[in-house]
Amino acid sequence: MTEHDLAILGASVVDGSGAPAKRAEIYISGDRIAAVRPPGTREPAREIVEADGLVLAPGFIDVHTHDDMALIKTPLMPSKVSQGVTTVITGLCGYSPAPLPPGTKLPEEYDILIPERGKIFERFSGYLDAVAQAAPAVNSLALVGHSTLRIAAMTELSRPATPDEVASMQRLLDKALEDGAAGLSSGLAYAMAKASETDELVALCERLASRAAPYVTHIRDEGDYLVEAVDEALTIGRRAGVPVIFSHHKALGQHNHGKTRETLAMIDAACGCQTVGLDVYPYSYSSTSLTVERARRGGKIVVTRSATMPECVGLTVDAISERLGCDPEEAVRRLQPAGALYHLMDEDEVRRVLIHPLAMIGSDGLPFDPMPHPRLWGTFPRVLGHYVRDQGLLSLESAIHKMTGLPARMFRLEGRGVVEPGAFADLVLFDPDRIADRASPSSPDNAAEGVARVWINGRSPGAGTGRRLTSSPA
Ligand code: ZN
Ligand code: CU
Repeated sequence: MTEHDLAILGASVVDGSGAPAKRAEIYISGDRIAAVRPPGTREPAREIVEADGLVLAPGFIDVHTHDDMALIKTPLMPSKVSQGVTTVITGLCGYSPAPLPPGTKLPEEYDILIPERGKIFERFSGYLDAVAQAAPAVNSLALVGHSTLRIAAMTELSRPATPDEVASMQRLLDKALEDGAAGLSSGLAYAMAKASETDELVALCERLASRAAPYVTHIRDEGDYLVEAVDEALTIGRRAGVPVIFSHHKALGQHNHGKTRETLAMIDAACGCQTVGLDVYPYSYSSTSLTVERARRGGKIVVTRSATMPECVGLTVDAISERLGCDPEEAVRRLQPAGALYHLMDEDEVRRVLIHPLAMIGSDGLPFDPMPHPRLWGTFPRVLGHYVRDQGLLSLESAIHKMTGLPARMFRLEGRGVVEPGAFADLVLFDPDRIADRASPSSPDNAAEGVARVWINGRSPGAGTGRRLTSSPA
C-alpha cells in the first residue's frame, strides 16, 4: 500500500454537501484527498493528525470579498486563513483593479479597494499575473466590475452609457473573460454606476451567457426600493440568460424591515425559470463609504476612517457634529473621504436570509479600512459559533454547506467545497465547542478562536499554497 502524505484521524467529517456529519479517516496525497475511510482503517501516512472531538470540513469559500489587492499586499491573508477560509472570490460590488487604462483617475469611492493610487492594471491578465507573482496562501477567483468598465469606457459616469460606450465596455468585458475573469459584478447603488440603465447591464450580461458566467449584483437600492431593485436584477438575468447572485442580501432602514420576506419569495419563484443565488454576512450592521446621502437615512453611524479627521475614527457622526458645533451633514462633509458602520438592519431579517436554502456566506470585509467591519475577521466563525452552536438557528451541516458545497456549485469550482476522494485537499479542522468570532467594532482585527488547522491544496497555508481558480465550463 502506498504511503499517504497525511492522515487526519478521529474527526467528525462534515463533507460540504449538507449530509449528516460522520466519523471518518481522511487521507491526503499531494494536493488531493486520496481516500475517505471508516474509523479504524489506519492506512500508512507520513504525518498523522489526531483530531478526536474536532470537525473536519472543506475549506470555506468566501464568496464576497474586496481582497483583490490584499492578495497582492498581504498574500498570507491572515484575516481569512484564521477563519478557515481557503478560497476568496474578488471583484465584487462593481469594483475590480482591472481593466483600467494607465493614468485613470479613480473616484474616491475606490478607496475601499485600492489603497495606493496608481496601482491599477490595464489588462485583467496583468492583475491576475500580479496576484500569481505575490503567491498568496489562499485560492482566488476574480470577477470584473461593472463600475470599472464604466470608468474605463466613459468620460462622464453620471449619465447612462451611449451605444458606443456600451460596445467598448462589451469589448473590455470579453477580453477580461478571456483573460480569466469568472463573471461580472455590479454596484448599482454607488455613484459610479447609479446612472446606468437596465439595458446597459443586459447588454453586458449577454457577453457572459456563452460561458454561463454569473452576474453578481449589489442592487440599486437595499431600502425603500429593495423590491424593485430585486426585480430589476432578476430581469437582467432572465433577459441575458445568466445566473444572478444577490450580494449581501438585506433590507436597510427600520421601515423596510420585513421586506426580505417578499424578496426571498421573489427569488424562490424565479428559481423555476432562472439560476439565482445570494450571499449574506452574519451581522445586523453594515459598512461602506460615508456619504451625506447615506447619513440622511438615520440610525447610528460610527466613523471607521476619515482622511481629513482621522482622530474621529470610532466616534458616531452625532458625537462628531456636537464636537464640531455643526449639523451632522456638515460633519459628514468635513470628514470626507470617509467610511462608516451603519446600524440600519434588523436581526430577524439577518436570520431569515441566513437560513434561506440558497444563501451562501460572504464576508464583504474591507481589508484596507483602518477600522474595518468585524466581518472581515469574524464572518465564518460567527456563523458556526454564534448562529449554529449558541443560537441553534441552523445545523452545522447546513451552515458548512453554505460556506463550501453550495458556493462551489454556484461558481462551478470543480473539486472544491467537498470532502471526497479526488477532491482538492482544501480543509479546515475546528473545535465546534470553541469556534467563535473575536472581532468587534472596537477590536476589529482580533482573530477568531477554535480553528485548529487549515490545509490549502494539501499544504499548511503559506506562500504560494493558493491557486488561481477558474470556473469549469458550463
Ligand atoms: Zn456591496
Ligand atoms: Cu461588497
